[in-house]
Amino acid sequence: MEIQTADLGVLLNHSQLCGALRGRYQFEYLPFYSEAAEKAGVTVVFFSNRSLLGETGYTYAYVWNPDTNTYEQGVYKIPSVVHNRALLLKKGGKQIYSFIARDGTILYNRIMRFDKWEVHRHLVQNPQTAQYIPDTERLRSDRQILSWLRKYQTVYLKPRSGSLGWGVVRLRLSDAGLIVSRTVAGCSRHHTVPLETIAGIRHKIGKRPYLIQEAIPLIQLDEQPIDFRVTVQKGEKGEWTISGAVAKIGVPNAHATNLAVGARAAEAKQVLDSVFSKSEAAEVYRDLKKASLRIARQMEQIGPEIADLGLDLAVTEDGKVKFIEANGRDLRIAFHKANQRQMWRNTFYTPILYGAYLLRKRGSGK
Ligand SMILES: Nc1ncnc2c1ncn2[C@@H]1O[C@H](COP(=O)(O)OP(=O)(O)OP(=O)(O)O)[C@@H](O)[C@H]1O
Ligand SMILES: [Mg+2]
Repeated sequence: MEIQTADLGVLLNHSQLCGALRGRYQFEYLPFYSEAAEKAGVTVVFFSNRSLLGETGYTYAYVWNPDTNTYEQGVYKIPSVVHNRALLLKKGGKQIYSFIARDGTILYNRIMRFDKWEVHRHLVQNPQTAQYIPDTERLRSDRQILSWLRKYQTVYLKPRSGSLGWGVVRLRLSDAGLIVSRTVAGCSRHHTVPLETIAGIRHKIGKRPYLIQEAIPLIQLDEQPIDFRVTVQKGEKGEWTISGAVAKIGVPNAHATNLAVGARAAEAKQVLDSVFSKSEAAEVYRDLKKASLRIARQMEQIGPEIADLGLDLAVTEDGKVKFIEANGRDLRIAFHKANQRQMWRNTFYTPILYGAYLLRKRGSGK
């Protein structure tokens, strides 16, 4: 068995890799990684947690061969620099990461899913980022919800990590009672219930750790709430760069602007131009990018190997930027859906150029 070597690896979830090998790409569009590697003069192979050959330090991996237009399988030594794109939640996931990262392999973007409370705590520590952070606490009691509702009128309850179960819930005080908004079967649904029902809501959430957060007054277009996805990644010189920014436009009156809840993606600048004057829009766009870079730099305190963040940012009616959340594994589809091919491509290129930078740095012993 001949063992081959490659400069960089991209660790994918098995289903993404299998689809890609059959030419059916899902959110991981591998040709962009291969093109970027060629541009940087390095070789890149793709593998998944299931391609590893036990604990030998070798793995089956796939490399694109442009002459045959196919991915060729080989047995490879695990590359010394690996871009993580695999979300390994099952037991054993952490061990796989540790195993890959042993012997000095750099596995960047190891944290795929952040604890929203931990992110919050880091971002409020620095005045440069604290200005973007909505008031947030850990959810503890019905009394706390009531007092927050009295203070803010509208609040969000959010799971600290991932949005399984009841997911993100918006509560709004109205004359008729409490309006509860949440996602049911991919749609934003609203129910008005008596205020006393709060105990029932807490019961439904169960023991999962949740946060309570003031609602940010998002800008709107025809009652459609809008927020932004800004992807910030480390690039070819190891510095944080903005790979793309798009708007997500929710369905009218939706409590959430996730694409999975029916929102559509659109060019950020155009959307800002239709909400603000031209000069205000340009300023807000600059602020969105400035905030993203500051947030990314501050988040490095959580883990120095963080190099790729999909930020959800809001813009308020008076043009202020606010932080909603940080995603460790941005699926990058918002850019594709907004027809922003250059940005979409950047989100695959930039991490590979960063990988090439890490290799050079290592090679020069710095
Ligand atoms: N404080 C807030 N004020 C206004 N809107 C909010 C607030 N928090 C969340 N939202 C809306 O809900 C959407 C989803 O919230 P968030 O991004 O925090 O969670 P998520 O995407 O469901 O989480 P995960 O990525 O962990 O699955 C946001 O894109 C935004 O539209
Ligand atoms: Mg989100």
